[in-house]
Amino acid sequence: MLMADTVETLDVAALRTALGRRSVVLVGMMGSGKSSVGKRLATRLGLPFVDADTEIETAAGMSIPDIFAQRGETEFRDGERRVIARILATRSPLVLATGGGAYMNADTRARIAEFGISVWLKADVDVLMRRVRKRSNRPLLRTADPEGTMRRLLAEREPVYSQADITVISSDDPHEIVVEAALAELERATSSR
Ligand code: S3P
Repeated sequence: MLMADTVETLDVAALRTALGRRSVVLVGMMGSGKSSVGKRLATRLGLPFVDADTEIETAAGMSIPDIFAQRGETEFRDGERRVIARILATRSPLVLATGGGAYMNADTRARIAEFGISVWLKADVDVLMRRVRKRSNRPLLRTADPEGTMRRLLAEREPVYSQADITVISSDDPHEIVVEAALAELERATSSR
């Protein structure tokens, strides 16, 4: 694990070569910064950025809150699994941001391990809540006690997220700092293989 404030210079071209055909797959809770960090990471690496939630919305022709409301979470999870499998199966390296629940699916974890390097953006409850409060687009947090729900989901999910290849702390630091920390950890992970 690398703290977000220990930034080092690195050779991005060498990292791209070391990644080969593998994609970089961001996992972690709602509000951990997967999309914001992912877009910047993709730019730094010169790779396309894909947001799995956006792809699911396009495939379904409706928003995620509408999928949950009209089709239910089980159907959403099934679509999520299929969409992520399809994106990774192209074998064309990219940076993929996954929805917070995606990595909980064993099949999806296996696909990610096969085609990519997983990066867990780890953030504490206070950071997550500050970020998710800005938007109301997360059906799972539409409860009487969103913070309690977030704490419960974190407790369930952290043991699984911790199976990711790399962990990077996502704090209140600017996203750029988190991106540099992720790049440094990717370099370490790919050079030790
Ligand atoms: C979910 C996270 C959301 C979205 C859906 C379910 C989850 O994505 O996939 O609302 O189960 O944590 P973000 O993590 O991008 O918010």
